[in-house]
Amino acid sequence: MKIKFFSPAFSVFFHINMAENADFSKLDSIASRKSGGENLYLRFYQAKMAQNPSAHRFSDPSLDEKEREALTRWNRDRDDRTSPLNLQLLFAFSVPSRQALDLIVGLKRPLVSVGAGVGYWEFLLQQTGCDVLAFDSNELYPEGLRYIDVKKGGPEVLVSHGERVLFLAWPDADESSTLSTDCLNHYKGDAIIHVGELFGETLSSNPWGQSTSREFQLNLGEHFRCVTRMQLPNWPGHMDTLTLWRRLPAAVDCDGAMFHYVHPPQKRYWPECSA
Ligand SMILES: C[S@@+](CC[C@H](N)C(=O)[O-])C[C@H]1O[C@@H](n2cnc3c(N)ncnc32)[C@H](O)[C@@H]1O
Repeated sequence: MKIKFFSPAFSVFFHINMAENADFSKLDSIASRKSGGENLYLRFYQAKMAQNPSAHRFSDPSLDEKEREALTRWNRDRDDRTSPLNLQLLFAFSVPSRQALDLIVGLKRPLVSVGAGVGYWEFLLQQTGCDVLAFDSNELYPEGLRYIDVKKGGPEVLVSHGERVLFLAWPDADESSTLSTDCLNHYKGDAIIHVGELFGETLSSNPWGQSTSREFQLNLGEHFRCVTRMQLPNWPGHMDTLTLWRRLPAAVDCDGAMFHYVHPPQKRYWPECSA
């Protein structure tokens, strides 16, 4: 699809060429979407965003209704299998970048994912040799859409996987979901990777974002500290990041001031990244 929204002609030419590098016929089957372990989703993301660099403006109040409607439709068109919404359903809500996957692999820790959906991030991680267990209630996504063996299970499985890093990507569909909070209550391990939006980093009218509930984030902040943050490739309307959280040990009295000790990771902030 070649659509022009608010773009200068030269960039449209450039972006259409980029888009043509992405072979959307690979969406046809789970085997071709797996693409031998290549991060096909990132390629599709880059192609789609190159097609329509103004897509992020869909909520700009200065747009007239027709423009907003066109951008919103481009983003959420259920009849276009290449729409961002359909790609998110086929792969994952957040797009994994090479650097994000490397960061996780670099931890050299086994992972447990709950609310894995079709397990795309988990699949890419497994391809690099990472030990990942994935669980989901498996009621939303049929088996044929899954990239790996996503076992049936919920937060309760975490009780016996405290030695693993908990991987949570967009677990809560809305504020009424208790999945993230239940995971936090059951998880006894020392580290959590959160993929999605967090308090204040969102364009949603809900300040807590679109990925985890207010209750979860308050509990997370109370018992864990964010030690690494990496921007992800953001779909229109997303301000999603990958963050690594470490469980807090007891605070220590340092000349009258109480401090926790968390061994710092190699790098606290990472820029946006792509391939
Ligand atoms: C919004 S989707 C996110 C899927 C995927 N992690 C992603 O980032 O695209 C939330 C997932 O949580 C799962 N889920 C919701 N409640 C659950 C529960 N109590 N136990 C296990 N999985 C649950 C749903 O089936 C769904 O696959």
